[in-house]
Amino acid sequence: MLRLLDDFPSCSLNIFEFLRVAQPLRPHYYSTSSSPRIHGDSVAHLTVGLEAVPVPGTPGRDFRGMSSRYLHTLREGDRVHVFHDSADGFHLQDDATNPMIVVCAGTGFAPMRAFLAERLAMKCAGVPLAEAALFNGIRSTSLDYIYRDEIERFAADGVLDHVHIAASRERPGRRDYVQDRIREQGALIWRLLAAGSHVYVCGSQPMRAAVRAAFADVVADHGSLPREHAEAYLQEMETTARYRPDLWGRTRGDHIDVLALLLTLAALVMFAFAASDRELSRFNEIALGLVLLTAALICQFTSITNTHFGR
Ligand SMILES: Cc1cc2nc3c(=O)[nH]c(=O)nc-3n(C[C@H](O)[C@H](O)[C@H](O)COP(=O)(O)OP(=O)(O)OC[C@H]3O[C@@H](n4cnc5c(N)ncnc54)[C@H](O)[C@@H]3O)c2cc1C
Ligand SMILES: NC(=O)c1ccc[n+]([C@@H]2O[C@H](COP(=O)([O-])OP(=O)(O)OC[C@H]3O[C@@H](n4cnc5c(N)ncnc54)[C@H](OP(=O)(O)O)[C@@H]3O)[C@@H](O)[C@H]2O)c1
Repeated sequence: MLRLLDDFPSCSLNIFEFLRVAQPLRPHYYSTSSSPRIHGDSVAHLTVGLEAVPVPGTPGRDFRGMSSRYLHTLREGDRVHVFHDSADGFHLQDDATNPMIVVCAGTGFAPMRAFLAERLAMKCAGVPLAEAALFNGIRSTSLDYIYRDEIERFAADGVLDHVHIAASRERPGRRDYVQDRIREQGALIWRLLAAGSHVYVCGSQPMRAAVRAAFADVVADHGSLPREHAEAYLQEMETTARYRPDLWGRTRGDHIDVLALLLTLAALVMFAFAASDRELSRFNEIALGLVLLTAALICQFTSITNTHFGR
């Protein structure tokens, strides 16, 4: 809004007009990445990705997420207003005697860290644990291998039996993703699935279909099943909540872009009218132009906020 007012110095907007068009700030959700049994009863850890994206039309300026940046600036002793919500459907299986396969990328590791810590607590309490395999996607070991030490400790403590890391930006000219590791480890995956393994998938939306397709390939190849039977096998796992995806993505339809463009054009027409000689209606035209421009901006930015696809 400030940029708009800077770009159109002849426009002014009073606080009431602004409040009429401004949307209230929506809450941002973060997965708990800790376990009360390991990290403490009134403690919740978060694993927050800070993303810098270029501001459209302003070269050299980055937009750093509002909520993630705010969290980043907090210091010990600061107070922050939060509410607690339950992750409906995406929780650790009740029966630890069934194996588990954990597939995640980036900050998708957040809920998995909580699950693994919970397994550690169970192990310390003497609960027998079935095998667990982690397929974790990172960009490179030097850049974003978050919680490397903890993952190694989970493995040393017997909480994780198999660790497979896919580093997407380490090999020039080739992106290595978790789905590639899943196919490579087909025999292991099939053995765990056949033993009743649960599968958890957390990461961004593009990996949803790719990871599912990799599981379908493994079931078809290693279970020697025709493709449609492999598909039915996975569907059964989904219906019985043995295959649990928790994915996020950015919704951005072409229709939203077109709407934003039309609103911007309508606003420009209003400003053109305002610039003509008709003194009496100038204020109304500027106000309407600003409302239209703000609506265009809202269309743009509400369409690229994070949305959950899963469960
Ligand atoms: C159930 C759930 C669990 C989640 N768990 C986690 C988690 O464990 N860890 C985690 O990191 N995140 C998690 N998220 C995502 C988190 O809630 C936020 O969506 C995420 O941190 C981005 O918020 P932000 O404040 O950084 O960015 P926002 O300010 O909300 O912006 C979102 C995006 O919009 C674009 N944008 C907005 N305004 C502008 C502008 N003026 N100029 C240019 N671009 C702009 C940018 O691309 C930006 O990245 C979860 C979400 C859900 C729904
Ligand atoms: N954790 C959550 O629950 C959650 C929820 C909503 C939003 N977010 C937000 O998402 C933003 C970015 O997240 P991030 O950096 O953690 O993860 P990310 O951008 O999804 O990247 C993580 C890894 O996944 C790889 N990847 C990209 N496309 C893939 C595909 N089709 N299949 C498999 N792997 C793929 C990436 O590789 P390349 O980039 O090298 O291609 C990278 O190595 C953060 O701002 C975070 O706040 C997180």
